[in-house]
Amino acid sequence: MWTPFYLFISFFLQAQAILVNVTVDDSGINPLTGQPIIYNPPGAWNLGANCTMCTAKIDARDVHNGTWHDVSTFNSMLQLQTASLVFNGTAVYVSCAIARTTSSPHGFSDMSFFIDGNLVGTFVKTPPGLPGYDFNFTVYSNTSLPPGRHELTIQNSHINGSSSLILLDSITYSSVLHTPS
Ligand SMILES: *[C@@H]1O[C@H](CO)[C@@H](O)[C@H](O)[C@H]1NC(C)=O
Ligand SMILES: *[C@@H]1O[C@H](CO)[C@@H](O)[C@H](O)[C@H]1NC(C)=O
Ligand SMILES: *[C@@H]1O[C@H](CO)[C@@H](O)[C@H](O)[C@H]1NC(C)=O
Ligand SMILES: *[C@@H]1O[C@H](CO)[C@@H](O)[C@H](O)[C@H]1NC(C)=O
Ligand SMILES: *[C@@H]1O[C@H](CO)[C@@H](O)[C@H](O)[C@H]1NC(C)=O
Ligand SMILES: *[C@@H]1O[C@H](CO)[C@@H](O)[C@H](O)[C@H]1NC(C)=O
Ligand SMILES: *[C@@H]1O[C@H](CO)[C@@H](O)[C@H](O)[C@H]1NC(C)=O
Repeated sequence: MWTPFYLFISFFLQAQAILVNVTVDDSGINPLTGQPIIYNPPGAWNLGANCTMCTAKIDARDVHNGTWHDVSTFNSMLQLQTASLVFNGTAVYVSCAIARTTSSPHGFSDMSFFIDGNLVGTFVKTPPGLPGYDFNFTVYSNTSLPPGRHELTIQNSHINGSSSLILLDSITYSSVLHTPS
């Protein structure tokens, strides 16, 4: 009499654990923690639409939530430019706009990706020299994170490295949600 009852409860509870994608906009917050993406040094990163000196001019309709963050390096960069997000999940995806142009803006990409302080990937791309951008472009994905809390850090170029542009649009991660029954 009791066994089928417990089996039913167990099945019901398992069915309430679902994997969901959570998207953190470049200028929004992580909806599950309330924390935004942390940009360093803060003055180097520009809210794209409000940046008069930035050469990347993007139609807000082409990017997630109408916003993007623009950072670029020059050959003499002495301080690392990074964007970091703390999340609890098993997968993470970084979405950028990628400039195809070689000038205004110079679209060379040299990004490094760190999970919990360890270098896990790079995205290096020379622009083809065509007009426009590739939008919603996944520059890094990791679908094999151990469950739990992680810190993702995106680094632009290197100290004294080549000139590189990042137009960060959003970061998405997959998290197990336990919905109340
Ligand atoms: C999350 O988004 C990625 C990239 O768009 C997709 O490949 C994946 O299937 C999604 N996962 C879930 C649980 O929706
Ligand atoms: C969308 O962008 C605005 C800033 O323009 C920000 O205040 C808001 O939190 C963002 N919304 C989401 C859902 O990320
Ligand atoms: C960006 O510019 C818009 C329009 O000029 C303005 O409404 C908004 O407050 C600005 N945002 C920031 C963060 O400066
Ligand atoms: C990129 O995705 C966003 C939704 O996240 C959408 O609003 C936008 O139109 C897409 N951009 C293009 C060029 O399709
Ligand atoms: C994903 O992250 C894990 C944990 O940091 C790492 O061991 C693995 O190499 C990463 N995979 C990719 C494709 O970056
Ligand atoms: C991460 O989320 C899972 C599922 O919601 C939860 O069981 C776990 O305690 C969380 N871990 C941390 C370190 O917050
Ligand atoms: C970067 O360049 C500066 C100026 O030329 C030099 O002083 C510094 O040692 C270089 N740093 C590295 C890590 O190469």
